[in-house]
Amino acid sequence: MDLPPNQTALVAPATAPLFVLLGVGVQNYTCSGTTFASIGAVASLFDISCLARTSQFATIQTTAFRIWDRLHYFVTSPSGTGISPKWDFTSTGKFAGNSTAFFIGTKVGDILAPTNPATNIDWLQLARVEGDLASQIFRIDTVNGQPPTSCAPGSPPISVKYTSKYYLF
Ligand SMILES: *[C@@H]1O[C@H](CO)[C@@H](O)[C@H](O)[C@H]1NC(C)=O
Ligand SMILES: *[C@@H]1O[C@H](CO)[C@@H](O)[C@H](O)[C@H]1NC(C)=O
Ligand SMILES: *[C@@H]1O[C@H](CO)[C@@H](O)[C@H](O)[C@H]1NC(C)=O
Repeated sequence: MDLPPNQTALVAPATAPLFVLLGVGVQNYTCSGTTFASIGAVASLFDISCLARTSQFATIQTTAFRIWDRLHYFVTSPSGTGISPKWDFTSTGKFAGNSTAFFIGTKVGDILAPTNPATNIDWLQLARVEGDLASQIFRIDTVNGQPPTSCAPGSPPISVKYTSKYYLF
């Protein structure tokens, strides 16, 4: 996992990752005053661990974003608050039926995306709060997902498409 040099907020584990996932989803924001505030996200996760040594791996999040941006549309809808990100492997793949194969995390590190941080959402390090799936998850190589810089007071919540890689340790 390649993290930017010259920063200490994200600390790479010494071990190999358990999984690398491609996230394809939306970041949701509500208009708070005149700026957008995060109210959560929803993403589909694809296991791309077996692609790690292919030439497509480095830019797969950009390729996926182009496809995602063109082929899917959302309508704005009001949403709830106070959510935590959850990675849930309990019903699919090799952990199907395993009730502890999930991860609920809390953010322990956060840096601006190294390229185009006004467009691309932050890179994050999350530590486990519940579940046995992993002890740490990193969100890196983010594409898009940031809200516009301002909003009209009273305007409805928005969803902003993004892709990223998720490394599970
Ligand atoms: C690296 O960090 C130092 C100290 O914070 C800073 O002065 C320098 O500009 C940084 N270099 C880069 C390339 O960000
Ligand atoms: C985010 O917004 C989408 C609609 O764009 C909605 O389906 C989803 O439930 C929302 N999720 C959260 C956590 O706000
Ligand atoms: C359930 O999944 C966790 C990983 O999420 C794994 O550590 C554990 O061994 C699994 N348990 C069984 C009985 O397969």
